[in-house]
Amino acid sequence: MALMAAGVVMAAGGAFLIFGRDVHAMTPAEEGLHPTQFPWEHTKWHKTYDHASLRRGFQVYREVCASCHSLSRIPYRTLVGNMMTVDEAKALAEENEYDTDPNDEGEIEKRPGKLSDYIPSPYKNDEAARAANNGALPPDLSLMVKARHGGVNYIFSLLTGYPEEPPAGATVPDGLNFNPYFPGTGIAMARVLFDGLVEYEDGTPATTSQMAKDVVEFLNWSAEPEADERKKMGWKVIAVTSVLLGLSIWVKKYKWAPIKSRKIVYNPPVVGTPVSKLKQMENQKAK
Ligand code: HEC
Repeated sequence: MALMAAGVVMAAGGAFLIFGRDVHAMTPAEEGLHPTQFPWEHTKWHKTYDHASLRRGFQVYREVCASCHSLSRIPYRTLVGNMMTVDEAKALAEENEYDTDPNDEGEIEKRPGKLSDYIPSPYKNDEAARAANNGALPPDLSLMVKARHGGVNYIFSLLTGYPEEPPAGATVPDGLNFNPYFPGTGIAMARVLFDGLVEYEDGTPATTSQMAKDVVEFLNWSAEPEADERKKMGWKVIAVTSVLLGLSIWVKKYKWAPIKSRKIVYNPPVVGTPVSKLKQMENQKAK
């Protein structure tokens, strides 16, 4: 009896665990608000990046984010053909100075940047970056789209999600800014995008959401520069393998046709045939 009762209690407990109330290790505020799923064109499997948007997004990165965030995995050469011409990229690289290799006396000199150089960081090191940002480290943005749960949706929501005022009852520690999408809601980065902050050369109105969209698409490119190529390769793979699939179906049918259409006939001996007759039939077969 006691065993049965224990069984019932355990079953009920199991059912509650599976179907009962959700249990969270963290509160929604600690986890951050889930970002909206936006209908990004460039993430669709048959679409590519909008390269005009990448160009605008890089402009936003350069004019706004680059004063705090590095983009250390991106060399100038990768911009060529994706968002600018060779000459534009060269001119951009030459705006910065890089160390030369040591000369015969072991001296390191400065030279203008080349296409093979990487985009420089705004700070000398992490300590300098923290010192300039109230102790918070602005992370490198090269792989940010892959590094955060929610990817493009999260970063877009983060950039556009600063309310005018923190909601009533929210406590915002000193030096932090309220943003519901940031885990913990207190983020060291203040709102950086405001309508009309940059001037797009193609005349696109630079609203907050337009700049956020462009810079996020650009950051998606920096994290997955191979995406366009990868999708094109996917199409080729589908084209080739579907021909191979058709061919293999045909070959299979061809090889199996004689086996599948074979007819096996067996005539059982008539019941009551005398043994002598059967022997005679067998002898005939053997011949
Ligand atoms: C004034 C300096 C500053 C500027 C300008 C700036 N940021 Fe930040 N950003 C920071 C700091 C500091 C942090 C670290 C925040 C923290 O950990 O609380 C941060 C964090 C981030 C994060 C990571 C959030 C996370 O989940 O950890 C992203 C993404 C980001 N910034 C994107 C951008 C983009 C895109 C721009 C340009 C449109 C930009 N930032 C401009 C200072 C800046």
